[in-house]
Amino acid sequence: MKMAVVISLLLAFCLLLGGSAFAATPLEGLLPNGNFEEKPKPTNLKKTVLKGKYSLPKWEINGFVEYISGGPQPGGMYFAVAHGVHAVRLGNDASISQTIPVKPGSLYALTFGASRTCAQDEVLRISVPPQTGDLPLQTLYSSNGGDTYAWGFRATANVAKVTFHNPGIQEDPSCGPLLDAVAIKEFFPPMPTRDNLVKNGGFETGPHLLINSSNGVLLPPRQEDLTSPLPGWIIESLKAVKFIDSKHFNVPFGLAAVELVAGRESAIAQIIRTVPNKFYNLTFTVGDAKNGCHGSMMVEAFAAKDTLKVPFKSQGKGRFKTASVKFKAISARTRLTFFSSFYHTRVDDFGSLCGPVLDQVRVLPVA
Ligand SMILES: *[C@@H]1O[C@H](CO)[C@@H](O)[C@H](O)[C@H]1NC(C)=O
Ligand SMILES: *[C@@H]1O[C@H](CO)[C@@H](O)[C@H](O)[C@H]1NC(C)=O
Repeated sequence: MKMAVVISLLLAFCLLLGGSAFAATPLEGLLPNGNFEEKPKPTNLKKTVLKGKYSLPKWEINGFVEYISGGPQPGGMYFAVAHGVHAVRLGNDASISQTIPVKPGSLYALTFGASRTCAQDEVLRISVPPQTGDLPLQTLYSSNGGDTYAWGFRATANVAKVTFHNPGIQEDPSCGPLLDAVAIKEFFPPMPTRDNLVKNGGFETGPHLLINSSNGVLLPPRQEDLTSPLPGWIIESLKAVKFIDSKHFNVPFGLAAVELVAGRESAIAQIIRTVPNKFYNLTFTVGDAKNGCHGSMMVEAFAAKDTLKVPFKSQGKGRFKTASVKFKAISARTRLTFFSSFYHTRVDDFGSLCGPVLDQVRVLPVA
C-alpha cells in the first residue's frame, strides 16, 4: 500500500516535471503540495491568514485564505483534517489555484478532501476552464468530517488551471469550505466490449484514492458521462454516489464498486447503444459493503420501459446477489438507471449515510 502510493507519487512527479518519456503511463497522485503539508514561510502568515498571492508553496491564492492545522481552533471550532495535518479554508469569494501539465483531449478526475466548517449552505466551486461545477457541502456523508469527493474534466490544452473557489458570501466570515488534499488521475476511457455493452460496468476505472480512504470517494451529483469522475457513468439528481474500493470495503467483484448512499435522491446511469426492438439481458449484482450498513434494502433498475426491483436483506456481512431483467430496446440509445429505494445509516454511526452496493452491470443481446 505505502510502496504503491510512493511509486504513484513519483510517477506523477516525473510527469509533472514534463517527462514525455512517461507519456504511456497515466498521471496519478497528489498535486504538488496537494496535501498542504509544505508550509508557508512564517513571514507569509498572519496568525492563520495567508498573506500574498504566492504565499502558499505551489499554489496561487486569492482573497481570504487560512492555513490551518486540524483539531480545536481558536474561537471554539473543531476542524477535522483527515488527510495529513494541514488544510486551507476558503473565506468569502476566496480561491486557490494551481496550473498543471495535462494532455489535450484526455479525461482526468480530481480527488479532494472537502468539508464545510459551519452549519450553512457552503458550496465549493471547482473549475478547470471551460468546465466548472458547484459542489454543495450541505450533506455530511460521514460523521468524522473526512468526506472525499471526485470531479472530472476533459483537458482542452497542454496545461490546466485547477481552481477551488468559495463563491459564497456568508454572514460569518469565519465560515467557508475546508480543503485538505488534492490529487489527480488520468483515465484511458473504458469501452464497451464483446462481453458487455456497458462501459466500465464493474466500476474498476474510478478516481484516485487518497491515503486512508476509508470513507470511499463521493461522486457528486450532476456529472455528465463525458467528464464523469467515474468514466462512462452519469450521476443524476441531487446527491452523491460513493465509489468504494476492495481495500477498505467489501466489493462483490474486482477492486471497486459503488455504494448507493443517498436513497432516491441519487441515481447512477449510463446510456448504451442498442438496436430498436431487439431484446437485451441486463444483469447486475447487489450487496453490502460490510461496513455496518444493515436492513432491508432495495435497488431499482430501469432500462427502456422495463424495471426491476431487487430486494436485498443486509446483515452487513458483505453478502451479495445477482439479478437480471430482459428488456426490449425502443431506440438506438437506451438509458440504464439505478437507485436505492430506501435510506440507510450505519448501525454503529447514525451520522454516516450508507446503502446497497452495485457492481458488475452487464448488458448483452438475448440470442
Ligand atoms: C493513515 O492511517 C494510519 C493508521 O491509522 C496512520 O498512522 C497514518 O498517519 C495515516 N496516514 C495519513 C497520511 O493520514
Ligand atoms: C440473463 O443473464 C443471466 C446471467 O448470465 C442468466 O442467468 C439469465 O438466464 C439471462 N436471461 C435471459 C433472458 O437470457
